[in-house]
Amino acid sequence: MKPEKIILDCDPGHDDALALTMAVASEQIELLGVTTSAGNQTPDKTLNNALRMLTLLGATDIPVAGGNHRPLMRDLKIADYVHGETGLDGADLPEPTFEPVHQPAVELIADILRVQTEPITLVVTGPMTNIALFLRVHPELENKIKQVVFMGGAVGQGNVYPTTEFNMAVDPEAAKIVVNEGIPLVMAGLNVTLKAQICHDGLEKIRQINNPVAQAITGQMEFYGKWYGQDEFGLAGTPVHDPCTIAYLLKPEIFETHPAYLDVETQGQLTAGETVVDFAGLMNQKPNVKVIMDLDRQRFVDLIIDLLHHFD
Ligand code: BDR
Ligand code: CA
Repeated sequence: MKPEKIILDCDPGHDDALALTMAVASEQIELLGVTTSAGNQTPDKTLNNALRMLTLLGATDIPVAGGNHRPLMRDLKIADYVHGETGLDGADLPEPTFEPVHQPAVELIADILRVQTEPITLVVTGPMTNIALFLRVHPELENKIKQVVFMGGAVGQGNVYPTTEFNMAVDPEAAKIVVNEGIPLVMAGLNVTLKAQICHDGLEKIRQINNPVAQAITGQMEFYGKWYGQDEFGLAGTPVHDPCTIAYLLKPEIFETHPAYLDVETQGQLTAGETVVDFAGLMNQKPNVKVIMDLDRQRFVDLIIDLLHHFD
């Protein structure tokens, strides 16, 4: 099978870092570029974290570009309370041995897409600011996007407000632009990603993997798990949201999806960024998204463990 060509737009961030690691590890994915968004931490830190992770992964040939410094219309809210001072606390990472390209994220995405002979997948694991801007600046390249597979939103329980998820809440206007563009969408929202937990036994298996990447991921998961897993949300394990996107591309058979129509609320005082998911056709719109509703957690964790062995 030909590898799936992707661009990853992310805000590393612990779970973004794991998604990036999986994309680099898998031979079924060809990672054409990485762009960073402002989200989990400030834009300088998320960009630096992408560079540090790729240095650790030995993937310094992948072009990296920093994105917009703030959401389209709002002040930036970061999640340092989850991801720490660096945005990726918990493990010592090498300083970057390479530099980002000297162009903004939007232009790197354009350069990559322009030379593709077939449409490729955009994977988005942070706020959608860069992708919304890209669509507005380069509408001529939209036909080079096969699908947008994103972590964001929720059917039900949110994590910043009762019904809003962080990535969507940071830049609701950008998300609204992206989901209304008519590009096929796959949504990994909190309704499934909160089930995508690495529990104690899984973390111990990762700890046993004797390579520097797995060791760094162990430290990062321990840090991240303190807030998101056991302590704050009362979960049995640590939910790793963003890796659901990469795992879906690699093993769609371990996920259950349902077609729906998706829009994003931007006006609500308490609901800005809420993903409004219409399964029942109440809005008389054609489905524009496959919503991931469930996963086989054990096979998901096994996949992560397998991929981490790639760095042995
Ligand atoms: C999302 O928010 C971020 O903190 C995580 O990286 C993930 O993308 C979960 O709501
Ligand atoms: Ca993220």
